[in-house]
Amino acid sequence: YHVDWDLSAAEKGGYDWFMRKEIYEQPQAVSDTLLGRFDADRQLTLDEIRIAPAELRSIDKIVIVACGTAYYAGLVAKYAIEHWTRVPCEVEIASEFRYRDPIITPRTLVVTISQSGETADTLMAVRHAREQGAKVIAICNTNGSTIPRESDAVIYTHAGPEIGVASTKGFLTQVTACYLLGLYLAQVRGTKFGDEIATIMAELETMPAKIQQVLDGTEDLHALARELHQVPSVLFLGRHVGYPVALEGALKLKEIAYLHAEGFPAGELKHGPIALVEEGIPVFVVVPPQGRDQLHDKVISNIQEVRARGARTIVLVEEGDAEVEPYADKLIRLPKASTLLQPLLATVPLQIFACEVATLLGHDVDQPRNLAKSVTVE
Ligand code: G6P
Repeated sequence: YHVDWDLSAAEKGGYDWFMRKEIYEQPQAVSDTLLGRFDADRQLTLDEIRIAPAELRSIDKIVIVACGTAYYAGLVAKYAIEHWTRVPCEVEIASEFRYRDPIITPRTLVVTISQSGETADTLMAVRHAREQGAKVIAICNTNGSTIPRESDAVIYTHAGPEIGVASTKGFLTQVTACYLLGLYLAQVRGTKFGDEIATIMAELETMPAKIQQVLDGTEDLHALARELHQVPSVLFLGRHVGYPVALEGALKLKEIAYLHAEGFPAGELKHGPIALVEEGIPVFVVVPPQGRDQLHDKVISNIQEVRARGARTIVLVEEGDAEVEPYADKLIRLPKASTLLQPLLATVPLQIFACEVATLLGHDVDQPRNLAKSVTVE
């Protein structure tokens, strides 16, 4: 009896790709990122934030700067941070930031998000922001890397090393860290009461198990990928935090499957992108939870609009929501979560779908052409 010992297979823990392994590590990664932040007397503590509470109270604007997937994490963060803190929050692509003479003052809090901590565009943004007297908080996955070293403070994501060039657990943990930062600012500034923060923290703590639930129900996605891997283009729609999820779903397909894919805010469809919709085009739609606002119903009418024009609709919707069923060619069920936290669940099937399509197309999922894990040139 002979067992072949393949080092790289061992490193991948039995998975075919690091990316797939990292997708499956997400419950742990999110859980590790939340670990030890909420103490016994129900105070959110971010030890690493060495910026005095008084200073955080004087902030009048937050600017999030990042590249690629980290930028999309920043877009999710904007919704949560503004909702919880009522401080205006902008999100900007790092390579655009410094070259447009951005309005940064000592009362601006700049938040950079970078998995590697080495992305040159993001680093230049940090330097520029600090030159203008702004405080910079880095959200980063790599201990001791350049961006956190040059920042005033850092919140580490605890995703562990991410090898796959296309970020997965990096993204989910960045989003998680952004929630923590938003809640911390809300606590310090008094825009949320302790019990409100505790309620959101309690929901956050349920997320790793829900991400696991999503991972356990992905069989269908393999068949879906087989069905769709040869299409010329795929669209992704979402509203509110579902919009950055749509962008991230499209980016994964571009990065590793080299497939033309675009994400749009669903409400913007009628202002242009709907012209792209033709017979058979796959359109993924992220449906927000049924709630008080009209968001949910608006997205359902967007699904009807594209379906009426021949789109094949693949709808991500929470369990128990039956309203959308007649308009979905394929349903992907998500565990229940509040709207703001839904990206932690809705992104996962899109990552798996991209990984599956790229595998079927025979691409090197971990090392896609023309891309590097961290881009250290501007
Ligand atoms: C590169 C990678 C992307 C990543 C981006 C930002 O372009 O290919 O996957 O999202 O850099 O990386 P960072 O390390 O700053 O999060």
